[in-house]
Amino acid sequence: MSEPKKLFIKTYGCQMNVYDSERMAEALGGQGYVETQSAEEADMILLNTCHIREKAAEKVYSELGRFKGLKAAKPDLKIGVAGCVAQAEGEEIMRRQPLVDLVVGPQSYHRLPELEAKARAGEKALDTDFPEEDKFEKLKGRPKAKRGPTAFLTVQEGCDKFCAFCVVPYTRGAEVSRPVDRILTEARDLVERGVREITLLGQNVNAYHGAGPNGDMSLAGLIWELDKIDGLERIRFTTSHPNDMTDDLIEAHANCAKLMPYLHLPVQAGSDRILKRMNRSHTADSYLRLVERIRAARPDILMSGDFIVGFPEETEADFQATLDLVEQVRYGYAYSFKYSTRPGTPAAERPQVDPVEADDRLQRLQAVITRHQREIQDSMVGREVSVLFEKPGRLAGQMVGKSEYLHAVHVQAPGLAAGQIARVRIVASRANSLAGEPV
Ligand code: 5AD
Ligand code: SF4
Repeated sequence: MSEPKKLFIKTYGCQMNVYDSERMAEALGGQGYVETQSAEEADMILLNTCHIREKAAEKVYSELGRFKGLKAAKPDLKIGVAGCVAQAEGEEIMRRQPLVDLVVGPQSYHRLPELEAKARAGEKALDTDFPEEDKFEKLKGRPKAKRGPTAFLTVQEGCDKFCAFCVVPYTRGAEVSRPVDRILTEARDLVERGVREITLLGQNVNAYHGAGPNGDMSLAGLIWELDKIDGLERIRFTTSHPNDMTDDLIEAHANCAKLMPYLHLPVQAGSDRILKRMNRSHTADSYLRLVERIRAARPDILMSGDFIVGFPEETEADFQATLDLVEQVRYGYAYSFKYSTRPGTPAAERPQVDPVEADDRLQRLQAVITRHQREIQDSMVGREVSVLFEKPGRLAGQMVGKSEYLHAVHVQAPGLAAGQIARVRIVASRANSLAGEPV
């Protein structure tokens, strides 16, 4: 038998790309590829790219430039670009970087085996269509290999919201939900292979409305179906939009024991004037009232969010409104970004904020967020949490896992194994993790 070919995938950006990369590796497994962690020994290099901010897209071109030497040394090496930069820039990538043999957009991964064959035959292969088929269904099934205790599972893709700053509706296309039965089959398979916690993924995951046995099912309906799977202990979902935070989903947070008390609910800004220009179709006040309702249903829920500072025409007073909102919500985690102009989006046409001013706002916002994050993490000391252990820690006999609230927890307990869930008392709060003792 011939040596298997080696595949090196580098993943940028969001968790959905992490999931897609796993699926692409499986699809190319059917073509005789095994994964490698080294670009030097690869026969095929795939960059799974992100287009959300300018810096993310530019990284791709500088990374591609670095493969020049590898390709000179190994003319058979094939180089591919997948993900949102592939979708947004298409043929332009091959023009700008002739090293690239293959370009595949996020909705065409099921065509990867054909594209690979074409590239192997010495042709340039490109596919950035939005076909009707379910790419995940067409991709070869996951091999029955053992898995770690946590997994991502994409249930919804694309976005119809058209926030004025965002490329996602253009790169991932319109909102599409996968049917319930396919998701449940995949979830059961993951559980059989050792998975204990599944994070449901979607750009607008709470807009999920997949075909079920009795018509369309909501995300809450899907969560209750997953709740019935024995051996699946924890359910999470991300990313949600405030406008799709329906009553049944809030109710699931109150009553579904497997649904973890953590919610990533981006608001982006705290000024109504800016929210309107962002085309968010909610106000700061409606968001705060929503958070109140969620906390009434699940008082210990840990909130997480995304923020953009320096959006076109943002004034100091607008920015202060963002700081006010952050003070009111107190996020356990939050991700903040300086606005990045994305070609083709409506906000790109608006008067831009001075970048030095935007940098300054970003630093001030991050200082407040970090303070809250710290206070919330420190407030866990003395509390009992449940930890799903994922891997051994650096010290002998130590295990590391995540609490319900997604805090990393280190525990010294030689008897524990990955995949186990244990009650733990938190005894210390360190830089980026908690220390605990088994109860
Ligand atoms: N500039 C800066 N941040 C952006 N995001 C999306 N588009 C942009 C942009 N053009 C941020 C949003 C979103 C997160 C995934 O990325 O906060 O929630
Ligand atoms: Fe982008 Fe807005 Fe859709 Fe989120 S909701 S993917 S920020 S357009």
